[in-house]
Amino acid sequence: MAVKTIEWKNDRIIMLDQRVLPHKEVYRICHNYQEVAQAIREMVIRGAPAIGVAAAMGVALGAAETQEKNFDREFERILMTLSKTRPTAINLFWALERMRKVYTDNRSRGVESVKRLLKDEAQKIYKEDIAANKQLGKFGASLLGNARQIMTHCNAGALATAGYGTALGVIRAMKESGKQVEVWVNETRPFLQGARLTAWELKKEKIPATLITDNMAGYLMQKGKVDAVVVGCDRVAANGDVANKIGTYGIAVLAKRHGIPFYVAGPTSSIDLDCPSGKDIPIEQRDPKEVSHMFGRALAPKGIKVFNPAFDVTSQDLISAIITEKGVIHPPYQQNIRNHVSH
Ligand code: MRU
Repeated sequence: MAVKTIEWKNDRIIMLDQRVLPHKEVYRICHNYQEVAQAIREMVIRGAPAIGVAAAMGVALGAAETQEKNFDREFERILMTLSKTRPTAINLFWALERMRKVYTDNRSRGVESVKRLLKDEAQKIYKEDIAANKQLGKFGASLLGNARQIMTHCNAGALATAGYGTALGVIRAMKESGKQVEVWVNETRPFLQGARLTAWELKKEKIPATLITDNMAGYLMQKGKVDAVVVGCDRVAANGDVANKIGTYGIAVLAKRHGIPFYVAGPTSSIDLDCPSGKDIPIEQRDPKEVSHMFGRALAPKGIKVFNPAFDVTSQDLISAIITEKGVIHPPYQQNIRNHVSH
């Protein structure tokens, strides 16, 4: 991708503002960790792995600005502030834990060393994410075989990660290996990550794509126009249940009804072994205005009650396989996920 989702430059964090894509390519510069937290909360940057990378960079930036005498207290405050931004994607908490470990393991070496090591760790998380996506893309491309018409939901592309993407990483890898692919892009109401972001990425890469509204998925499946579904994930529970963008569950049910394989792609940092099942995954509720309004204009009568869960849980029995950078996890997930992560 020519466009960078996030970048650390001269002790500033620069993010492509995903709220205004595809019409404007505007960059937001974060000067401190509070601005990073705000950018995550407001979805300037979004997508589970990208949120993790942003949080890690936020910790490193916050630490770099902190004076030695307040360092330990301030470090806790930085972690706490970033942890409160979005609740569902485990990658956020995974990245914060990695940063905390660097601090704990090296605190005795002095504050300046810790600051330097935190910056290194954030860069490492960034680079590892791109490498993981490329690797899982290859596994996914061979798993999908000759599937040609692929449906995806939300944006699990370069914009949602440090680069390359998870679900879109699989699609990119298919194209790179010479396969013919055509993508059905679900618009993904209410935030329109599909229409605004996935469509933008695929167009930029000249991968054939067609935009549909979310309620057209069943019709296309019934007509034999979908060979496979690939989506990303915000959290994979220990039993294989997966939280992903609202609407994913409905598509998985439809795919099962039509005998279409339904694949989940994500790095192992999206797996939460401490979360026994999907019931234990916290689901973010967002501003009702995302549903009742569009581009600042009301769609619905004033005062109507609105419900706006940002994610849903797809139960493990609807998932054909989970693709990670370590390979492919097949059912039964309860045992296979644990083995996969520990190898
Ligand atoms: O609310 P968002 O845009 O952060 O939700 C993003 C998704 O649900 C993605 O599918 C998921 O994070 C995987 S991104 C590789």
